[in-house]
Amino acid sequence: MKYQNTQTTAHTNIAFIKYWGKKNAQLNLPCTDSLSLTLDGYFTTTTSKFISDNEDQIWLNGQRAPASFFKRTQKFLDLCRQLNHCKQKIQVITTNHVPTAAGLASSASGFAALAGSLNKLFQMHLSRAQLSCLARRGSGSAARSIYGGWVWWQHGSSDQTSLAVPIDEHPQLPICLLSVVFNDQPKKIFSTQGMERARTTSPFYSCWPHIVASDLSAMKQAIATADLQQIGQIAENNCLAMHALNWSARPAFSYFTDATWKLIHLLQQWRHESQLVAYATIDAGPNVKIITQQNQVQQIQARVQHSFPQAQTTILYPGPGIQ
Ligand code: PMV
Repeated sequence: MKYQNTQTTAHTNIAFIKYWGKKNAQLNLPCTDSLSLTLDGYFTTTTSKFISDNEDQIWLNGQRAPASFFKRTQKFLDLCRQLNHCKQKIQVITTNHVPTAAGLASSASGFAALAGSLNKLFQMHLSRAQLSCLARRGSGSAARSIYGGWVWWQHGSSDQTSLAVPIDEHPQLPICLLSVVFNDQPKKIFSTQGMERARTTSPFYSCWPHIVASDLSAMKQAIATADLQQIGQIAENNCLAMHALNWSARPAFSYFTDATWKLIHLLQQWRHESQLVAYATIDAGPNVKIITQQNQVQQIQARVQHSFPQAQTTILYPGPGIQ
């Protein structure tokens, strides 16, 4: 077979309207739409090739992948083999340029890059819309990392219709995020388990689709008018509503620590007392991403470092789709 360049790079993304709950776990079909911003700077690069070994070979950051990573990746390879009626084993070489200190999940960029690389390896010639569906099967949020900038994942009703679409791949508004990673990390409840418990046991879950629909429409309007304060406020409201599902689950759980709450309160104070644009969004962990504007981020970073000397902070800008 002739040499093929299968190298693909995909960037991480952060949801401003959260995905929290699956209506079909096998296909990763979400209960609701979601909306995210793809970020610059942090990405995954993946290459793949067919090998004649008896086992798949999966490398992560220059080493054999740990068991959990191997299993999840192999499941995705099996899916692509099945779609292409192929039995051949595959070597995957993946490098995550997503430092743990940045507090970002690498599964979105990871499965988007893997889907892109396997699309080339199997010569599937998938469109970006079809790639979004494929990436979704690896990790829901990966569906959105196919595109740059603002991305809307439409929940859809089937494997072919649950996909992301770009809203604005090159946002002009001066938005940026400050990621704040606290040092004491509590035990992790993986997003799949957390969202499933919330979906099946929170008495408020039936409100969630209505909250998302109304936040999404307000968010699109705020993006269209480049209203950064509105974008931040809607994102923070939506994030807190998502976490309220976890606090009301049975048994209840929380990703927040004291530091998470302290920073949320400080942001409220800085907004009111210093007229700063600073809103929180938080995923399946205690760390906070502060939504702010580019000419205020240094001031906010200094304030955060002052209040949390142990925290690690990173500035993140809008980024591109897969390459
Ligand atoms: O893609 P997953 O299964 O890791 O879930 C992502 C869940 C959140 O990050 C909390 C929200 C989101 O929309 O990205």
